[in-house]
Amino acid sequence: MSTDVPVLTIDGPSGSGKGTVSRAVAQRLGWHFLDSGAIYRALAVAAARTGTALDDIAAIVRLAETMDLRFTADDPARILLDGVDISAEIPTESCGNAASRIAAHGPVRKALLEKQRAFRKPPGLVADGRDMGTVVFPDAPFKVFLTASAAVRAERRYKQLKEKGIDVNLQTLTQEIEERDRRDRERVEAPLVMAEGAVLVDSSDLTIEEAIAACLGAVRQ
Ligand code: DC
Repeated sequence: MSTDVPVLTIDGPSGSGKGTVSRAVAQRLGWHFLDSGAIYRALAVAAARTGTALDDIAAIVRLAETMDLRFTADDPARILLDGVDISAEIPTESCGNAASRIAAHGPVRKALLEKQRAFRKPPGLVADGRDMGTVVFPDAPFKVFLTASAAVRAERRYKQLKEKGIDVNLQTLTQEIEERDRRDRERVEAPLVMAEGAVLVDSSDLTIEEAIAACLGAVRQ
């Protein structure tokens, strides 16, 4: 890992606006972008495709070690798993839930650690996830914890999924998001917590542009 390359970590729960905001911040800084959630999601897709049970952790770890995962240079990047474009499967809630389940296991997280750290390349990296500032890039000079109220997060995810043509029910989605967040916050391994020294940004009442400005401010400070 080249520790002289600057990293801005943006951690937070789903629906906080992390994905949109982090991508835009990376673009404006001209830095690389790591969507770490997409790596956990791709592993969940790999499990489904190979018929691997989500609780067979040894098999999931083997998959994590052997899967060939590539992000194309398109914007947004397409995700290729062993050469197959799985971009359409990545954003669904069932994929997010499966990702959250396998992500609770230490050996799975360990197997994905270096894949994430490999994104740290000049001139810099914006890393989006749950444990970017605490575990993956603890030495990052810039850290943000981006959050929003549960109601706002559910509403945003609902709109996002609808726009992608994915059919969802707001009430079911709210329950699923709450359950996923609880699992991500309460797990023993790399739980979702605010990293020490992180700037807290509550995006509930912010426009995307204002949230982007707050994250850029953390780098310029
Ligand atoms: O950010 P996301 O919704 O795409 O992430 C999907 C799941 O992956 C999330 O619920 C928990 C897991 N995850 C994680 O444990 N650590 C990360 N750094 C990113 C995601």
